[in-house]
Amino acid sequence: MAVYKYFGPGCSMFGYGCVEGLGEELSRRAYEKALVVTDKSIVELGIAAKIISVLDGAGIGHAIFSEVKPNPTVANVKAGLALLKAEGCDFIVTIGGGSSHDCGKAIGILAANGGEVEDYKGVDKSAKKSLDIVAVNTTAGTGSECTRAYVISDEEKRTKTGIKDRNALATIAVNDHSLMMSLPKKLTAATGMDALVHAVECYISKNGFMLTSELALAAIRCVFSWLPEAVRSPSNERAREGMAVAEYLAGLAFGNGGVGMVHATSHQLSAIYDLPHGLCNAILLPPVMRFNKRAAAGKLAEIGRFLRPLEAEGKDDETMADLAIAEFERLSAEIGTLVRLRTLGVKEEDFGLLAEKALMDGSMGNNPVQPTVQDVMDVLASVY
Ligand SMILES: NC(=O)c1ccc[n+]([C@@H]2O[C@H](COP(=O)([O-])OP(=O)(O)OC[C@H]3O[C@@H](n4cnc5c(N)ncnc54)[C@H](O)[C@@H]3O)[C@@H](O)[C@H]2O)c1
Ligand SMILES: [Fe+2]
Repeated sequence: MAVYKYFGPGCSMFGYGCVEGLGEELSRRAYEKALVVTDKSIVELGIAAKIISVLDGAGIGHAIFSEVKPNPTVANVKAGLALLKAEGCDFIVTIGGGSSHDCGKAIGILAANGGEVEDYKGVDKSAKKSLDIVAVNTTAGTGSECTRAYVISDEEKRTKTGIKDRNALATIAVNDHSLMMSLPKKLTAATGMDALVHAVECYISKNGFMLTSELALAAIRCVFSWLPEAVRSPSNERAREGMAVAEYLAGLAFGNGGVGMVHATSHQLSAIYDLPHGLCNAILLPPVMRFNKRAAAGKLAEIGRFLRPLEAEGKDDETMADLAIAEFERLSAEIGTLVRLRTLGVKEEDFGLLAEKALMDGSMGNNPVQPTVQDVMDVLASVY
């Protein structure tokens, strides 16, 4: 017998300008007042105002919390929760990338269950469903709008806690690529590589199954088809749509099959140096996959055959796995994410600490092989 469980959002909306249709979905539910959770840039770009006008049109009130930091913090969650209570909001609208969604998920879980973020570390630790969450996505990377996962940084403890909780799933996920057109090249590249890493790590995850593998392969194909063009020509609607689909497919895949050592390590880089999640993942993908080859050469070779079918005939797994890794590296170089850790201010003397923390990260358990502290340090050194 095999039992695989699959979780996804209740309703997902796609299409250029589809957020205009959100009012109809909201009107089906008896919402009165939204806590809008977002960040300052999203407000300045006028993106938050667009969604607020949809709320107005549906006769729904709102209060706005726009203090979310990239790598959202426990302090962000506490402040947002206090505003939600003070304003008597009965649901949450997150607008932005993974940071806004993750912060909103934590607020929603605490509003329904009480306690502190730390209490929910692990899998399915909450008793009650979060307040309803409507996740309006503006980056093409994290998949947070369609996953059970959320990640919150504790600035004092310099940790980043990953939580998986079915009660944190969004009720409505909106992937309107018209809201992604303003993403600058660097952010398009880094967030797009996050989506690729979700798919690759899920494909080789110990906890994946056929559905997640097929979703992951589709996501990989989408990223290779559309990410270079989205970075080259930010106003290309088709490329933006392709990346909105890619990151969603990757989210559905890893949200159910898991991610591994790239994420376990990159969470520590973000926690200690406050570095962008997608960029850290992009840097770590090739060396971690070289390390993982000892246990996952066959799976990596399958990705290689998928990406380079014309070169596959007669080649063994080792060769095809190397070709897959070379493709990851080529893409990363093309879009400007193949940078060295030293250029981001990472310090060599922290490698031991980073490695120890990476081994304790919840994602590490999905990795096809369990590394030692020295293995993680070697990976970091190879991209230093
Ligand atoms: N929950 C999950 O499943 C999951 C998965 C992966 C990563 N994450 C987390 O998500 C966070 C990263 O999220 P992210 O990579 O989406 O970035 P982000 O949400 O941190 O946003 C990065 C920057 O991009 C800006 N931005 C967002 N959309 C924009 C747009 N359309 N135009 C212009 N600027 C825009 C934001 O204002 C912000 O300054 C990390 O904390 C990471 O750990 C969560
Ligand atoms: Fe990620």
